[in-house]
Amino acid sequence: MPAVLCTLPLPDPFTERVSPAASLRVLGRIPDHTDLCAALHEGAVDVLCPQLADRVDAAVLDAGLPTLRGVCVYAVGYNNVDVAAATERGIAIGHTPGVLTDATADLTMALLLAAARRLVEGDAALRAGEFRGWEPGYLLGMELSGALLGIVGFGRIGQAVARRARGFGMRLAAHGHHGVQVPDDLAGSVQIFDDLGALLAESDVVSLHMPLTAETHHLIDEEALRRMKPTAILINAARGPVVDEHALVQALREGWIAGCGLDVYESEPELTPGLAECRNAVLAPHLGSATVRTRAAMAELTAANVLAVLAGDLPVHCVNPAVAAVRR
Ligand code: GLV
Ligand code: GLV
Repeated sequence: MPAVLCTLPLPDPFTERVSPAASLRVLGRIPDHTDLCAALHEGAVDVLCPQLADRVDAAVLDAGLPTLRGVCVYAVGYNNVDVAAATERGIAIGHTPGVLTDATADLTMALLLAAARRLVEGDAALRAGEFRGWEPGYLLGMELSGALLGIVGFGRIGQAVARRARGFGMRLAAHGHHGVQVPDDLAGSVQIFDDLGALLAESDVVSLHMPLTAETHHLIDEEALRRMKPTAILINAARGPVVDEHALVQALREGWIAGCGLDVYESEPELTPGLAECRNAVLAPHLGSATVRTRAAMAELTAANVLAVLAGDLPVHCVNPAVAAVRR
């Protein structure tokens, strides 16, 4: 029987789907790099299911050879996997797009609303006994209706955020590294910015929804933050390293921007020093896809990817279809 190695256990129905076709080994922890290589060396593994904190580089892939045929990530983002190295070695990569779009867009709106209306700051003040009663000028925030939402990365999730924000009366703008395609139902509602700097300068809220790549690493750096309005809010539910977190802490402290809502961090799960003390930062612990229904759908799709690889096919959602030409 082929073998599947998971670093953490995956929710139902993963085990039920995969166990008729493979023996399943679960480490039950996020291994360090050496530990992950050792786990792959230990027994012949056909498919590895890592988590997004597991760095799957050439050394890890080599540790899985000659048996390793697939890496199926339990996520839509796959920046933790060296795609070129996997393709060269004939190893297919599967991921879980689509099923987490709505959950992630919902969480983005939660961060946006919480940051705009200073909800977490207010909660903290109330619990600390600092609320003295209703006052005309107390904790005033940004009104979403009429505000311009600049979406960077207009893929499935960015578009789902646009639909929700339109319901709040926001005006919409978009920028994409490889251009922007506006779906029919949003046509005429989205102003396209070819220049990121112009979008940053004009938006009241900037929300990030691009994948992490070499091109998008630190896309939001000191210069980008300094271009934003002092009243603006930055939302990041994509990947931490697209923002220079040191520069962000300075921006929040010195009022280059008014606030932020983050779901992801540069060195997850660590926070850059100073960030936790910024009252104008709404901080969520990477909860974008964290609903019961979405996590089950991701498990189902990961199982389908694994089963396809075991059957000699490409994963249902394959990141590197070029691998078909180099399959062993
Ligand atoms: C989560 O962050 C994912 O990429 O699915
Ligand atoms: C990824 O970009 C998704 O929306 O699923």
